[in-house]
Amino acid sequence: MTDFIAKSTVSEVVLSAKSLSKRYVSGPASTDVLNAIDLEVCRGETLAIVGASGSGKSTLLHLLGGLDQASSGEVAILQQPLKGMSDAARSTLRNHAQGFVYQFHHLLAELTALDNVALALRIRRTTPEAARAEASSMLEAMGLASRAHHLPSELSGGERQRVAIARALVTRPACILADEPTGNLDEENSERVFALLIDQARSRNAALVLVTHNLALASRCDRVMRLHLGRLEAIAPHDAANRTAPA
Ligand SMILES: Nc1ncnc2c1ncn2[C@@H]1O[C@H](COP(=O)(O)OP(=O)(O)O)[C@@H](O)[C@H]1O
Ligand SMILES: [Mg+2]
Repeated sequence: MTDFIAKSTVSEVVLSAKSLSKRYVSGPASTDVLNAIDLEVCRGETLAIVGASGSGKSTLLHLLGGLDQASSGEVAILQQPLKGMSDAARSTLRNHAQGFVYQFHHLLAELTALDNVALALRIRRTTPEAARAEASSMLEAMGLASRAHHLPSELSGGERQRVAIARALVTRPACILADEPTGNLDEENSERVFALLIDQARSRNAALVLVTHNLALASRCDRVMRLHLGRLEAIAPHDAANRTAPA
């Protein structure tokens, strides 16, 4: 584990893709979704990925998170190439280095906000007391101190998403992958959740790779890239803010 940390601090790259391609094959039909993508994300950096529906944003995030296999090319987390790694080693690395936020919160319905967040630490063998203390201060940072003992069903959509972000950040990952984390929220809540996600990621020096349809929000990240025809192209953040969202 310390080995991962030692290596990553040398050059600061926490996530990389080299010539990454993905082709989905079903029967005689095949779709090339990603075509030789190169990407490096550094510690503490925030990167927004925009692109039309179906352009492959979720596919890319799944590959970067080690949840799916590329057709060719390579992903490395904390400079450890995933290729050739055993399932157990890959899963240890992911648990240690990455946090995930999805469009839908995926909180456990029977657990309170606090226990949902603490669980992320418990499965990493933190003691119950330490897990609850860390979870509690993470929820406070997300403006949810008064909601800690509520069940997900007793929270608003924006609050649930903030709990999901707390759960992703509480383990202090080197990198957060967020797939349309505000896609299901109204404008006001999107704004608040997005701001908290970026602020908390930055203050914890976690890299953030975030997929969004909202170019105005994307432009608040350090870098904005557009996925188009299987390739990732850089867009200047101020350009992103002035464009209309793709369909
Ligand atoms: N498991 C799969 N099998 C076959 N095709 C898929 C699969 N997952 C996604 N696709 C196709 O790949 C393309 C990109 O999908 P996706 O990554 O979900 O795009 P986005 O997140 O940008 O909307 C779409 O055409 C989609 O239909
Ligand atoms: Mg998607």
